[in-house]
Amino acid sequence: MVMYLRWIRYAHEGGPLEEGTLEGYNLTCPWHYAVFDIRNATVSDATVWATELTSYPVRIEETTGDILIDLRREKK
Ligand code: FES
Repeated sequence: MVMYLRWIRYAHEGGPLEEGTLEGYNLTCPWHYAVFDIRNATVSDATVWATELTSYPVRIEETTGDILIDLRREKK
């Protein structure tokens, strides 16, 4: 199983990405329909007007179940 774990900070107009639609790797924002690739948090060529997401790698600690967000490795 492949998982894409990233903590995403959305920089467009603050649309609720958690309410977006996921088709394959494409996450569509419900407000203005910007499309982002969940594997790398880049905006689709079809909606380049949208600001790219800022994301951080996330890891789940196997022994404790803690969710760790690496804020040092920001990706824009
Ligand atoms: S707020 Fe998400 S596309 Fe505009």
